[in-house]
Amino acid sequence: MNAGEMLALRLLHALEPEQAHELAIRALQWGLFPMPRHVADERLRVDCCGLSFPNPLGMAAGFDKNARAVPALFNIGFGFVEVGTVTPLAQPGNPRPRLFRLREDEAVINRLGFNNAGQAAVRERLLRYARLPGRGVLGVNIGANKDSRDRIADYAQGARCFAGVADYLTVNISSPNTPGLRDLQGAEALHRLLAGVRGALEEKGRARLPVFVKIAPDMDEAVLADIVEAAVEGGAAGLIVSNTTIARPDTLKSPLKEETGGLSGLPLFVPSTRMLARAFLLAKGRLRLIGVGGVRDAETAWAKIRAGADLVQLLTAFVYRGPSLVAEILSGLLDRMERAGFNRLNEVVGTRAEEWAARKLPVE
Ligand SMILES: Cc1cc2nc3c(=O)[nH]c(=O)nc-3n(C[C@H](O)[C@H](O)[C@H](O)COP(=O)(O)O)c2cc1C
Repeated sequence: MNAGEMLALRLLHALEPEQAHELAIRALQWGLFPMPRHVADERLRVDCCGLSFPNPLGMAAGFDKNARAVPALFNIGFGFVEVGTVTPLAQPGNPRPRLFRLREDEAVINRLGFNNAGQAAVRERLLRYARLPGRGVLGVNIGANKDSRDRIADYAQGARCFAGVADYLTVNISSPNTPGLRDLQGAEALHRLLAGVRGALEEKGRARLPVFVKIAPDMDEAVLADIVEAAVEGGAAGLIVSNTTIARPDTLKSPLKEETGGLSGLPLFVPSTRMLARAFLLAKGRLRLIGVGGVRDAETAWAKIRAGADLVQLLTAFVYRGPSLVAEILSGLLDRMERAGFNRLNEVVGTRAEEWAARKLPVE
């Protein structure tokens, strides 16, 4: 991290977390953030689901919910950016405060509750980015409005709205902050949801658009196995493992640990990576996996790939470590590939899945 970036982060962290987030998005939007060096190397390219990712590192959903900073995030060096979660209608989310920095734990708790500008506004912005020169892959994460009478219809509407502007879609059925949303992870509900989304994409002539299902880390092996089968049968391209957790590991030190919401960052690394490995073993090559949860350096990104991830995302570490983290992770991945004698990242995927799947969790 250079001195300018350190100062910028220090200033942001002196502010209330949500104000800091808003300011960071504006700084990115207006090009005011110090831009780090770029790591471009063909050995990092990942071909997945018919898409070509310049590198395997993406910004996770929730950082740029309304697609305001997409060009800047690509400039920083992310191989892909996932915007959203976007719901059909704009909604304010939960009352503030609803975002907490657990500094001692390098973690965040959020109960934002899908605050977003709504599909029409986000689509409008994305249309402007369609022809960004040299841009990476753009994902749109879709969800349901809190007061929706028919949540599955909300996802189908999202698919229809973004079919023409997204490179892939994510159906987010795992936010802990919209009551009842995680019920959609049940096999029968997931079947119906994927059928609705696929139907909407067919209507728009985009039947082949990859659809990922983003799942929670808080479930047992049997439920995970059902989700894997439902995702395969429903024609999903893959899973994103995982969203934030409602668990509170014993190891947390921050006085804010009792806040309600989803926990992300370092304490999520082991549980989400173990679950990723289990999903990899259950999927037996039928699904592609995006690993997310606690990635904070090259070592943790490498571990996700070895546990079974084709691609990796992060969010919380960006808040603590800033934009130069992207280049640091990518060059660290190249070093590790060289040392281990791999020429392409796909040779690395899942090479430690058994070990990770058997891993014990820290006590809760
Ligand atoms: C402030 C915040 C907002 C988030 N909003 C969303 C969201 O809208 N949709 C979603 O699918 N995930 C959301 N997430 C979850 C992240 O995409 C990611 O799955 C999770 O934070 C774990 O990754 P991390 O440990 O690198 O942060 C959010 C996370 C944070 C910290």
